[in-house]
This record gives sequence, structure tokens and C-alpha cells, in this order.
Amino acid sequence: MRDDKTIAIGADHGAYRLKGLFVERLRSLGYEPLDKGTDGEASCDYPDYAVAVAKAVAAGEAGRGILLCGSGIGMSIVANKVDGVRAALCHDHYTAKMSRMHNDANVLCVGARVVGDDVALDLLAVWLATPFEGGRHQRRVEKITAAERA
Ligand code: RB5
Repeated sequence: MRDDKTIAIGADHGAYRLKGLFVERLRSLGYEPLDKGTDGEASCDYPDYAVAVAKAVAAGEAGRGILLCGSGIGMSIVANKVDGVRAALCHDHYTAKMSRMHNDANVLCVGARVVGDDVALDLLAVWLATPFEGGRHQRRVEKITAAERA
């Protein structure tokens, strides 16, 4: 069942350390992280973790998801292959906020080699706290869903 407090999280080796910081911050903000790996700094393949997190969100196992890799790019490409997932690669407070307000992004992707820890934790907090604006954006999000089905 969908639980808005459960957040699926995954990373590859390039962002394993940042995942640890995110897990801690999620807990301190009252969320329940659902850790889909990776479990160490050994080289691994980002699609494995992107698919695990995206499927958890699409299936309602988690309310939202977070994916971290070196650039954030690979994770966002893969996550957006899964129907029902709107993954947003965010680099700052503004993109994190807009991805929620206008796009109803349900997966946040961050590049651990792109932004510093403090920026990453700031955009995590704003992404979690910002609601979808709805209105004209609802119509646009519905068109994304329609495109998936076409
Ligand atoms: C791993 O070296 C790197 O390619 C990966 O973390 C990510 O940046 C891919 O998009």
C-alpha cells in the first residue's frame, strides 16, 4: 500500500556516501527510508538501483523515491522508463521546488559529484516539503501519463 512517509532510496558506488547522509536526514525529518542499495563503494551498475526504486514507487511500495549517482543523469534516464514515474534531476533549491510544484515529480535524482553535501541535503528537504500545485499543471501531468499509455 502507498505510504507517503516511506521513501525508497537507491544509489550506485558514486553516491553511496551521500545515500548514507540522505538516509539519516530522511529519518530526522520523520520519513521511513526503504533502502534498495547499493551497500558499499564497490563499482556497480546504476540501472539496477534505478529500476528497484522506480518499481517500488510505481507499485506503491513507497510514496516517493530518491536516486543518487555520480551525475544523477543515468538514474534519471532509467527511472523515467518505468510507467508512473516522473523522475527529476535536480541541482539546486529552485529545480527541486519546481519539480514538485509543476511536475509532481515522484522521484528525486541528484548527482553526488555535481553538488556538495549541503546543497544536496537542502534540495532533499525542499523537495520533500513542497506540494504539487495542481491546476493547469495537473492537465500537463495527465498528458505525461497519456503519453506513457500511447
Ligand atoms: C559511475 O562512474 C557513473 O557513471 C554513474 O554514477 C552516473 O554518473 C551515471 O550516470
